Amino acid sequence: MGTDEVNRAPRPPHPPRILCVGIAVLDHVFQVEAYPERDCKTTARGFVSVIGGGAVNAAIAIARLGGVARFAGPLGGAGGADPIGDRILADLTSEGIACDCLRVDNTISPVSAVLVDAQGGRTIAHHRDSDLRVAKAVDPDRLVTGIDGVLADDHYPEFATPVCMAARRRGLPVVLDIEKLASPDHPLLTAATHRVFSRAGLSATTGEGDPATGLLRLENGDGAFLAVTDGAGPVLWRAGGMGGEVPTFAVEAIDTLAAGDVFHGAFALALLEAGDGVRALRFAAAVAAIKCTRFGGGAAAPTRAELERFLCSKSGEELDFAEEFTSSGRLVL
Ligand SMILES: Nc1ncnc2c1ncn2[C@@H]1O[C@H](COP(=O)(O)OP(=O)(O)OP(=O)(O)O)[C@@H](O)[C@H]1O
Ligand SMILES: [Mg+2]
Repeated sequence: MGTDEVNRAPRPPHPPRILCVGIAVLDHVFQVEAYPERDCKTTARGFVSVIGGGAVNAAIAIARLGGVARFAGPLGGAGGADPIGDRILADLTSEGIACDCLRVDNTISPVSAVLVDAQGGRTIAHHRDSDLRVAKAVDPDRLVTGIDGVLADDHYPEFATPVCMAARRRGLPVVLDIEKLASPDHPLLTAATHRVFSRAGLSATTGEGDPATGLLRLENGDGAFLAVTDGAGPVLWRAGGMGGEVPTFAVEAIDTLAAGDVFHGAFALALLEAGDGVRALRFAAAVAAIKCTRFGGGAAAPTRAELERFLCSKSGEELDFAEEFTSSGRLVL
């Protein structure tokens, strides 16, 4: 696939149907003033128990923004053996997200305890059964049938890689959220047309601390679109020998949990709707900024109407940016 084809994904004539592949978690999220010291207790001023994980949060963002999201990934055992997995499935269904989950016997689904502090930072204790890491997708070709694009996280490479490869065989765009992958030659990475790293993920993959240098190092002429997010800092991108940066929106961040996941979901949707990687980064920055202003992890992802109101309220330096996506007070992509 050439650079132009990759960066300009074909625009489907209907709301994009995106398969989100990867991890599903039940997040217990506590809002605290400050992190407690060891052996001390602290009282949380807010609490939610919400579904999360990279691919799940991306799917929620896509569905709320008007896309058609499906989720595929491993979960704990069926038949009442894993109430966490049952809860994850029930919540996905109520978000309008269809699921192709592989229930793995004698395991429980991933769960996290998350502390979000007054500055919106998050600290996470995560539990995942090791048997889930080796679960394999049963029929990757079936999973990508009737789909316009794939979004994958890098938490279950064994499961996600064959699905992404099946999507590529059909000429579909594959967006990968890289948080920890450790090799530039990993088949999951090379299967993706759009490789969007977190700063930590880029550093783990390249061994390079500086994000701009890390992206340059990964450019290998295979036509992939590369980008790296860095919290409130600008998003850097490179494609076809060119590069640039996209500013984020200045917001009062009270909960950054899942900002990156929501960013990736919005990016995949905008890529399929607008066909342009850089434009999709700008759209995703707006969606993720709104998420950061609200407590509740990925469940705080905005709807399309909320995004429209946010963009239409912009002024000053952010107005040009917002006007790219609004016309007569309406959201256009
Ligand atoms: N404080 C913030 N203010 C505005 N936008 C933010 C802020 N934090 C994150 N974002 C938006 O979310 C995007 C992703 O954030 P970040 O780089 O922190 O993701 P991450 O490291 O993958 O973390 P996670 O996936 O755990 O949310 C950023 O590029 C930006 O658009
Ligand atoms: Mg992330």
